[in-house]
Amino acid sequence: MRTLILGCKGQLGKDLLTVFGECGDTTGFDLPEVDVSKADQVARAVADVDPEFIVNSAAYTNVEGAEDDEKNAFLANEQGARIVAEAAEARKIPVVYISTDFVFDGLKTTPYEPGDEANSLSVYGRSKRAGELAVQEATQRFFIVRTAWLYGPGGNNFPEKIIGAAQKNPLLKVVHDEVGSPTHTWDLALAVRALSETSAYGVYHAVNTGSCARDEFARAILFATGIDTPVEPCSADAFPSKAARPAYSVLSTSDLERATGYVMRDWQTALDHYAQRRNSS
Ligand SMILES: NC(=O)c1ccc[n+]([C@@H]2O[C@H](COP(=O)([O-])OP(=O)(O)OC[C@H]3O[C@@H](n4cnc5c(N)ncnc54)[C@H](OP(=O)(O)O)[C@@H]3O)[C@@H](O)[C@H]2O)c1
Repeated sequence: MRTLILGCKGQLGKDLLTVFGECGDTTGFDLPEVDVSKADQVARAVADVDPEFIVNSAAYTNVEGAEDDEKNAFLANEQGARIVAEAAEARKIPVVYISTDFVFDGLKTTPYEPGDEANSLSVYGRSKRAGELAVQEATQRFFIVRTAWLYGPGGNNFPEKIIGAAQKNPLLKVVHDEVGSPTHTWDLALAVRALSETSAYGVYHAVNTGSCARDEFARAILFATGIDTPVEPCSADAFPSKAARPAYSVLSTSDLERATGYVMRDWQTALDHYAQRRNSS
């Protein structure tokens, strides 16, 4: 299968290139060559690659920054989503749009299913939800894949922030009242590939299984990377931020398993794999 990956220099994009590259011609573009919010640039990429499958992993991902930069967040996350989905529809090929747990308000206490009502708390979350709706308007051959707490090699992600902070401070205070599903980009890329082998179009959740609070994740990151800085729990109020985040955003992967037979690994095993990749790079 010939696959086009957009946003290929991002942490997920890089693993998508590798995972899809294992089973077919795979070409990726990112800024500045292909801006997903520019229809002519997307059209040129599609004409050059002649793909049979498109994965749109390009996004404005600065959650705090989006609060003061709504126009650009919506440009990439909504307009870009629409343009890429329309380009896929014009060729009658499927498209994947990667979305986020931030479309939810976090008021549930059991894992979110794909059909649960979205109610975003932040500009970023609203822009991604708008992107989901734009994709669904543009085509029926879509996979909307929501993930959460994503980290991968070379990314500016939570594990790297914790490792950096632990190397500079004798003690870390990390939020306890935020619970979610940490997800390794490698596992998400495999889930997207598993979906690409089906025509079970729809909305899916793809996260490593299990869940934890941020402070528990931080302790696991430091343990996996051999750093012994202690982590003390604190409340989210201790770190005031512009963007509100869901307090609980665990996602259920049952639909993904039913559609593909692919079972996501637990988050601890996926984190160990990340630590090994980090060591060997
Ligand atoms: N990170 C998370 O915790 C998380 C959680 C849930 C869902 N997601 C979703 O997962 C997907 C992948 O995220 P990620 O963590 O891999 O993000 P990332 O590392 O920030 O990668 C996104 C890539 O898209 C590029 N990009 C931004 N605007 C673009 C545009 N208009 N046209 C083309 N490329 C553009 C970025 O370039 P620049 O770096 O130059 O801007 C970057 O290379 C995104 O859809 C994101 O919303 C992420």
